Amino acid sequence: MAAKVFAISNQKGGTGKTTLTMNFAAGLCQRGRTLVVDADPQGSAAQWAGLAPDESPFPVSVITMAGNLARELNRFREDYQYVVIDCPPTLDSEITPLAMSASDTVLIPVLPSPVDLWASMKLAQTIEQAKLTNPAMQAYLVINQLEPRSALSRAMQQALAEFDLPSLQNWLCRRAIYRTSAIEGNSVFGIGKRGAAAAQEIESIIEEVI
Ligand SMILES: Nc1ncnc2c1ncn2[C@@H]1O[C@H](COP(=O)(O)OP(=O)(O)OP(=O)(O)O)[C@@H](O)[C@H]1O
Ligand SMILES: [Mg+2]
Repeated sequence: MAAKVFAISNQKGGTGKTTLTMNFAAGLCQRGRTLVVDADPQGSAAQWAGLAPDESPFPVSVITMAGNLARELNRFREDYQYVVIDCPPTLDSEITPLAMSASDTVLIPVLPSPVDLWASMKLAQTIEQAKLTNPAMQAYLVINQLEPRSALSRAMQQALAEFDLPSLQNWLCRRAIYRTSAIEGNSVFGIGKRGAAAAQEIESIIEEVI
């Protein structure tokens, strides 16, 4: 069976693409063979995995890729059950459109502020373009870094309603454990109880999209 391919994209920097990529992939690999494609020239996903100690490597292989993304993805589709592509924070290269054209689902992490959401608006055009060649592709906003005890502001709810793309029902809270697990080259699934609440929210996202 061909892999399900996810692109994690937002041309706005620092919204949580790599954090979502790595934790989402770590959750998916408990269900089937999973690959992370680091399509960001910054190489953050590969660096993240590189921080893992030799005796406990990151549970998913990370492959660095910029050129020939489309061709290589065809090959990965045969060998894996899930492929997760970490896209760069720009729309000025071919990488993001290529990744979207090859994906079943695009996940767009956004910070829970209307200003950040507005900065991501241009992405909706890129998604529309990708849908011309890949009409079955689905795209969802994923709210990241929600403050645990504060609900979404009304301004944010309004901004989400104006955005052309739907949002997932599940979101990620702002939790220090996302940062510390990254420093350890690990995921929130690999650090025991400390990561349990975060792992549960990643699981909920996985269940919502697969
Ligand atoms: N839910 C969260 N809770 C706490 N910290 C988070 C969360 N999500 C992301 N971060 C932190 O925010 C910073 C930016 O996240 P990340 O690197 O995943 O974003 P990015 O979109 O991949 O950035 P870039 O655009 O540079 O590729 C990192 O320091 C990360 O650890
Ligand atoms: Mg990144």
